[in-house]
Amino acid sequence: MQYVRDNIAQMGGYISGEQSQTGDFIKLNTNENPYPASERVREAIAKAAHTLNLYPNAMGTPFRKAAAEVLGVDPSWIMCGNGSDDILTIVTRALVGEQNKLRLPYPSYILYKSLAELQGAQWEEVDYSSDWKITDAFSRPDDNVKLFFLPNPNSPTGTTVLPDDLLALADKLSCPLLIDEAYADFNEFNCLELVKQRPNIMVSRTFSKSYALAGLRFGFLVARPELIEQFVKVKDSYNCDALSIAAASAAIQDQDWLRQTVAKIKATRAHLTDKMRALGFTVPDSHANFTWNVFPNAGTLHKDLYSYLKQNGYLVRHMDYPGYGDGLRISVGTDEDTDRCLALVERYLNDVGRRSAGA
Ligand SMILES: Cc1ncc(COP(=O)(O)O)c(C=O)c1O
Repeated sequence: MQYVRDNIAQMGGYISGEQSQTGDFIKLNTNENPYPASERVREAIAKAAHTLNLYPNAMGTPFRKAAAEVLGVDPSWIMCGNGSDDILTIVTRALVGEQNKLRLPYPSYILYKSLAELQGAQWEEVDYSSDWKITDAFSRPDDNVKLFFLPNPNSPTGTTVLPDDLLALADKLSCPLLIDEAYADFNEFNCLELVKQRPNIMVSRTFSKSYALAGLRFGFLVARPELIEQFVKVKDSYNCDALSIAAASAAIQDQDWLRQTVAKIKATRAHLTDKMRALGFTVPDSHANFTWNVFPNAGTLHKDLYSYLKQNGYLVRHMDYPGYGDGLRISVGTDEDTDRCLALVERYLNDVGRRSAGA
């Protein structure tokens, strides 16, 4: 395409998980929360709907103040985004120029690579150890690496690395480390305190998962004010609308709702993990709201099982990472939906799966 920059014409573009709003499918493929958001969110949106004739607060400061109280950081350390993907885009645009490199673990969130491609920049994937820990490759010296994205917990595996290991990693890097905490509310710990401890550590969060607001599009970054000041130059002036600012402010103030919902999801996650293991899958301990399921010597089993589940009304995510392999990522649903999905997996394995796995 003659009018378009070469790097855009040559890139494939990020492909997100299948979305279906028709209710024809039970969605266990994009790590949404199966429960409705806090009641306070709906009330806040109804109230904010009366002020839509006015532009929103450009920095989302009502949210920054509410979040600052809950998280124990100053509002000047917070920048709001239209989903955390917006945050990742803003940070990449500000830090990674053409010819520079973005570093990311492999396998992890596929969007990071697309963000480097948009910049006309390079990217470098570094492998986890076999037990999903940081390896020496993560801290390999390279002055051309300008940003490191590290999801913790990781997607698609749900595995986590310890804050001390991330601190040690940041100390060896000559660039900022952005810890993508999209799933941190499902973990036993998070890395927010590290932002105060090291100038090159930042943390991003989203309301799409634990707060059950994927349709709202709201996320935020916690970083030093000197960095935030620079990132603000890059973002759209009004990157978050008035409804999402009001809704996210109400959501973060309802920590009781969050605790209860996360507890339910963790209990279902334990059940999903146990059952998938009993069915013969290898499933790393998940610290997120999904599990990563790999059948030994699977052949085409993952892909076939994905299709079988889809035919039966259940969407899960079949992910194939060249050089690493494929597997199925299954989001934690309600107890009922999770059990129905598990029953389908069991039926499939009993009926046909073992044949396509060559077992
Ligand atoms: C690791 C990770 N980071 C960020 C996101 C983006 O979330 P948001 O909906 O806030 O853009 C996702 C979404 O699936 C994710 O898996």
